[in-house]
Amino acid sequence: MAPESDTIFRPDLLAGQVALITGGGSGIGLGISELLASLGMHVVIASRKPEHFDVARDQLLAQGLSVSSIALDVRDQERVRTVIDQVSQQHGRLDLLVNNAAGNFYAPSATLSPNAWKAVVEIDLYGTFHCSQAVYPIMKQQGGGRIVSTSMTLHYRGWPQMAHATAAKAGVDALTRTLAVEWAPERIRVNAIAPGPIPTEGVRKAFTPLPDSGIPDVFAAATERMEQYARDRIPLGRWGTPRDVANMVAFLASPGGDWITGAIFVIDGGEWLAKS
Ligand code: COA
Repeated sequence: MAPESDTIFRPDLLAGQVALITGGGSGIGLGISELLASLGMHVVIASRKPEHFDVARDQLLAQGLSVSSIALDVRDQERVRTVIDQVSQQHGRLDLLVNNAAGNFYAPSATLSPNAWKAVVEIDLYGTFHCSQAVYPIMKQQGGGRIVSTSMTLHYRGWPQMAHATAAKAGVDALTRTLAVEWAPERIRVNAIAPGPIPTEGVRKAFTPLPDSGIPDVFAAATERMEQYARDRIPLGRWGTPRDVANMVAFLASPGGDWITGAIFVIDGGEWLAKS
C-alpha cells in the first residue's frame, strides 16, 4: 500500500467527518480506510472477521489515525440498523458510507447451488441496500451525506462462472442511479466505483478458477508473468492498487464531489475496454 505521505490530498481535507466502511479491514477496503483516516476522518471498519477488522484497526491506530471497528455481516438487516444507529449516536454524525463488503467465487451457473447464489447476491446487493437504507434517515436528518458503493466491470460484457456476482453488481449499478435521483433532495450523493484487476488476497481467493475451467489463473502466475500480463492486457500497463481506488473515494467524499451523484467510476487502467 502506498505510504500516507503519497496522498495528493490536503491532510485535513475530511477533518471532523465520520465514515463507515464495510469490509474496510482488508484489501481495497483497507486502502480506503487508511486514506480516509489519513485525511482526518474518523473511520469505522465494519466487517465479519475480527482477524480483519481488529488487526486493521490496530495497524491504523499505530499510525496515529482515528479508527474503530465493529463486527457486521451486511446480510443481517437488523444488525446493520443497530450498528449504523450506534455509530451515528456515538459520533453524532455519519458523513460517508462505503459499501465495500463483497463476496465472489468462480462456479458454473448450471450447478450453482441456491445457497451459493444467495450468499453472493445477499452480500453484494442486499448488503449494499441494507446499509444504504439504514444511513438514509441519519444523513437526511443531518442535511446530507455520501454513499459510495463498490461495483465491478465484469457484467459489462458477461463473465463465465460469475453469474451470481455479475448479476448482483449490475443491481448495485441500478441501485446507485435510482437512489441518486431519489435521495438528491436530501443532498445525499450516491455514487459507485468499479475497480479492475487489483491483486489483493481476497481478490486472489475469489478469482482462483476451478480446475479444468479453461479460465486462466492470472493471479497465480509468477511475478514476472503477472507483469507481462499487465503489459499485454491492461492498457495502462500495470495492476491496480488499493490506493488507486481509495483516491476516487476520497475525491467523492470531498467538496470536489458536491455536484456528482449517480455516477459509476471505472478504475481499471482501461482493462475492460481493451479485452476481447
Ligand atoms: N464454488 C461453488 N460454490 C461455492 C464456492 C465455490 N468456490 N464457495 C462457496 N460456495 C457455496 C457453498 O458451497 C455454499 O453453498 P451450499 O450451502 O449449497 O454448499 C454457499 O456458497 C455459501 O458458502 P459459505 O462458505 O458457507 O458462505 P459464507 O457466507 O461463509 O462466505 C463468501 C461466502 C462468498 C464470502 C466466501 O465464499 C468467500 O470467502 N469467497 C472468496 C473471497 C471473496 O469473496 N472475496 C471478495 C473479493 S471480491
